Amino acid sequence: MKFFLDTANVSEIKRINDLGLCDGVTTNPSLIKKEGRDFKEVVSEIASFVEGPISAEVTAYDYEGMIDQARDLAKWASNIVVKIPMTEDGLKAINTLSKEGIKTNCTLIFSASQGLMAMKAGASFISPFMGRIDDMGEDGAKLIRDLRDIIDIYGYDSEIIAASIRNIRNLEDAALAGAHIATIPGNLFEKLWTHPLTSQGIDRFIKDWESFENK
Ligand code: G3P
Repeated sequence: MKFFLDTANVSEIKRINDLGLCDGVTTNPSLIKKEGRDFKEVVSEIASFVEGPISAEVTAYDYEGMIDQARDLAKWASNIVVKIPMTEDGLKAINTLSKEGIKTNCTLIFSASQGLMAMKAGASFISPFMGRIDDMGEDGAKLIRDLRDIIDIYGYDSEIIAASIRNIRNLEDAALAGAHIATIPGNLFEKLWTHPLTSQGIDRFIKDWESFENK
């Protein structure tokens, strides 16, 4: 399973990248706004040290606008993936861009049929939002399982990025449901490798060793 960082915060990405846990990065307009930095500047800085795919999202919602922005974004770095919203214009843009060899990530997927449309249109990645589905009282993990089944039955090339991951359970569910990738907020990562019993165990070893050495 691959892990992407769902953030535009460069220090968070560097920290996780140094652990060998960063296979790529996803951003969106809200995450860019949070950093308060120029869009191109921050994406270029991320691309200077992350080798894997970096998703940068269009802010236009009409076909022509999306295509213009996507062609420009794709020139920022060789590993840019253009994030396109799941709409009719978005599907048309994904279809055009895939024929031009520009990789796309179809975002804001909330149903298996939306995912299937994006796969068929030629999306390189599809992003179901697990947390927001759970917020509605529905089952985000089931959607990931259904999308994975569709990919495996028909042999689509699209990879599933489990997005809107808010907690440890979301990540574990995404892994078990067969998501190819989970995109994880920077501030969640530490919780994924820590456990109170691990910390207690280390404290006990330190105390026992100190009292043994002092004899
Ligand atoms: O990857 C999508 C993510 O940024 C949205 O997360 O928590 O706002 O639903 P959230």
